[in-house]
Amino acid sequence: MRVEKPPQETLLDHYVTKPTLICDVERRLQRDGRLGINIGLQEGLILKGLCTQNSVQKVVEIGTQYGCSASWMAMGLGRRGQIHTLERDPECIENARETFAHPDYLALGCDTQLVEGPALESLTGLSSQGPFDLVFIDANKLGYLDYLHWAQAHLGPQGMIVIDNVYLFGSVFSEICPKETPPKMWSVMKAVISEQLQHPDYNTFIIPTAEGLLVSYKKF
Ligand SMILES: C[S@@+](CC[C@H](N)C(=O)[O-])C[C@H]1O[C@@H](n2cnc3c(N)ncnc32)[C@H](O)[C@@H]1O
Repeated sequence: MRVEKPPQETLLDHYVTKPTLICDVERRLQRDGRLGINIGLQEGLILKGLCTQNSVQKVVEIGTQYGCSASWMAMGLGRRGQIHTLERDPECIENARETFAHPDYLALGCDTQLVEGPALESLTGLSSQGPFDLVFIDANKLGYLDYLHWAQAHLGPQGMIVIDNVYLFGSVFSEICPKETPPKMWSVMKAVISEQLQHPDYNTFIIPTAEGLLVSYKKF
C-alpha cells in the first residue's frame, strides 16, 4: 500500500534547483541502487528550514545512509551547528565519509560526527553529550519507539523531534495491520504516532509528505 506522491513535489521538482552536494550524493545512491531510500527534495527543504532556527544547534540523526539528510541539515545549521549522525552499514559509512569530505559540505562549516555501529548502542554513548536541540529519526522502523524515548529523554528545553516514514507506506491508516506489513513494525509505528500526538509536553503535527513526516516541538 503506497501513498501517492503529493502534488507539491511536482512543483518543487520543476522549480527548485538541487544543490550540487545533494546531486553528488544522489548520483552515488543511484549508482549503488539505493536512490529513493534517502529523503527527497521536500523533506530536505523542511529539515533545512527547521535547522535554520537559532534554537537548533546540536542535532542527532539516526540513520545516515550516504549523508543526504545530514547535508540538508548542515545547510540550515552552518557554522553554529553540530550533527552526530548514526549509521551501522559499512558501505553507507564509507559513502557518508565521502559526503562529509566533499568541498561543498566542508564549506558549510558544520561540525559533523559520524557515529558507527548499531544506533541504540551509539545513543547510549551519546547520552552524556546532551541535551540536544533536534533528533531526526530515519532508520530501522522496529527501533522507532526506543529512539523516540531516547529523544524525549535527551532533548533540551526547546527541543524538536522529527520522524520520517510515519505513514509506513499507508499501512498506519488501517485499523488492522495489512497483510503485506510486518505486524511488529506496524504496531511500533502506531505506538509512536499515538504517543507523540497525545503527549502533553509536545506540540505535534504530521506534514503530508509522501511518507509522512512527524514534527514534534517541546512545549516551553
Ligand atoms: C532510510 S535510510 C536513512 C536515509 C538518510 N536519513 C537520508 O535521508 O539521507 C536508513 C539508514 O539507517 C541505517 N540503519 C538501519 N538500522 C540501523 C541501526 N540499528 N543502527 C544504525 N543504523 C541503522 C541503514 O543502514 C540506512 O542507511
